[in-house]
Amino acid sequence: MDLYTAIHRRRDVRAEFTGEPVPDETLHRILDAAHAAPSVGYSQPWDFVLVRDVGLRRRFHEHVRQERDVFAATLSGEAARRFARIKIDGVLESTLSVVVTYDPSRGGRDVLGRHAIADAGLYSVCLAIQNLWLAATAEGLGVGWVSFYREPFLAELLGIPVGIRPVAWLCVGPVTHLESVPDLARHGWRQKRPLAEALHADRWTP
Ligand SMILES: Cc1cc2nc3c(=O)[nH]c(=O)nc-3n(C[C@H](O)[C@H](O)[C@H](O)COP(=O)(O)O)c2cc1C
Repeated sequence: MDLYTAIHRRRDVRAEFTGEPVPDETLHRILDAAHAAPSVGYSQPWDFVLVRDVGLRRRFHEHVRQERDVFAATLSGEAARRFARIKIDGVLESTLSVVVTYDPSRGGRDVLGRHAIADAGLYSVCLAIQNLWLAATAEGLGVGWVSFYREPFLAELLGIPVGIRPVAWLCVGPVTHLESVPDLARHGWRQKRPLAEALHADRWTP
């Protein structure tokens, strides 16, 4: 699969996981792709926790369910009705999960390029996640990013040391298919913004 095909075929997956195994070599390739991401000052501030344990996944899923309720309580009318139809995770159905973390202390005090923008470390972790996502797509796998959680809960659940932030819970595994349209667009939650609206020439144009 060429790069542009993978970029456009990639989908956030919730409902299409089959739970079938992922061969070790395939998993290694997608993690290696994540680990090849660019990072500020070459700090490589990510780690990957592979979560296969069903008990841990159940506890996380229960937490996600509660956070879903917290968000749902902020909605009313049509938005509440739409949200009720949207699945937000495949934690129990996917083959495994990969929790990607950020260590702001990686690289020591003098991370080249981070002195003015503290978030640059976090951006680096997101690039690793995107590499993983695209590599998984090229391998025919699905990935679903779950962010309905409180960081302290997840850190406690997985024994992540103080100071290291869980950035993403990624559900990973074989899928029946990848939808061609994002779930949120299909459910009328939000539509694609035209590229032309995101482009500005020289200066910000409202
Ligand atoms: C930082 C981040 C957090 C996300 N959190 C969730 C989530 O908790 N649950 C979910 O169903 N999708 C989540 N998504 C997926 C987005 O909803 C999805 O990317 C978007 O709707 C566009 O769909 P697509 O990825 O299939 O193109 C998240 C995506 C990102 C980048």
